[in-house]
Amino acid sequence: MPTDLPADNTQPLRPQQIEQFERDGYVLIEGLFDEEEIDLMLRVAREDRLLHEHAFEREDTQGRQSRLSLWNHPGDDLFGIVSRSRRIVDAMEQLLGGEVYHYHSKLMLKEPRTGGAWEWHQDYGYWYQNGCLLPLMASCLIALDRASRANGCLQVLKGSQQMGRVEHGRFGEQTGADPERVEAARERFEHVYCQLDPGAGLFFHGNLLHASDANTSPDSRWSLICCYNAARNDPYKESHHPRYTPLDKVPDTAVKQIGAKPSAAEKAFLDPADDRS
Ligand code: SIN
Ligand code: MN
Repeated sequence: MPTDLPADNTQPLRPQQIEQFERDGYVLIEGLFDEEEIDLMLRVAREDRLLHEHAFEREDTQGRQSRLSLWNHPGDDLFGIVSRSRRIVDAMEQLLGGEVYHYHSKLMLKEPRTGGAWEWHQDYGYWYQNGCLLPLMASCLIALDRASRANGCLQVLKGSQQMGRVEHGRFGEQTGADPERVEAARERFEHVYCQLDPGAGLFFHGNLLHASDANTSPDSRWSLICCYNAARNDPYKESHHPRYTPLDKVPDTAVKQIGAKPSAAEKAFLDPADDRS
């Protein structure tokens, strides 16, 4: 069990949920955000000009495009406040056993009938290259739309984070895990389709193998993914994602208080040309 949490940590997760994360590599929290909060997020996701100006596409192995917008610093707009809210940050600090900072967030815009697949990979498969020595890293995926098998929900190999980091290589415009390892892992770890209701939050470990299929349905599958690194895992070198930058936590009520506030340049959106993942 983690022991060195910051003194101000509110500990939103129960010990059983932390054990689940340690065993399975993920823990699902239904209703992490309520309907009103998700409506606000969907409004910003649709209307935020800067966010769409910085959106880019990644091609899967079949030539289908997946659209996303990615930023390094949270800022004080709605998505920034969400990623600084205690229900996520304090939970992350419980899961990673100490202070965390915002590593980046991304809005995944998996569009109806066109949204491409993501190859099996571990996030730490890329983040390792950025000078992060330890896999003390995790993400929280928040479903903005309902995520189902039909619209290409996230899939995970339950418990596969226990393998540690595996080799990654280039497939199409994406980086994926060594296919031989993935095939072997698929025989030993349960394959779970994370079908989520809007507002659900999936906390998952940086070494959990995950993927998603193309969206062949008439429904979009948009989600926000907020990624964190442990403060004690400050990267030893510069990369396209930040080194330790103290995170200013906000109370959960700040999400509704800020309302549909759009983003500003301070977020440091990623230029796709700088993305080496
Ligand atoms: C990811 O691996 O970052 C996202 C995959 C997905 O949203 O389908
Ligand atoms: Mn990923």
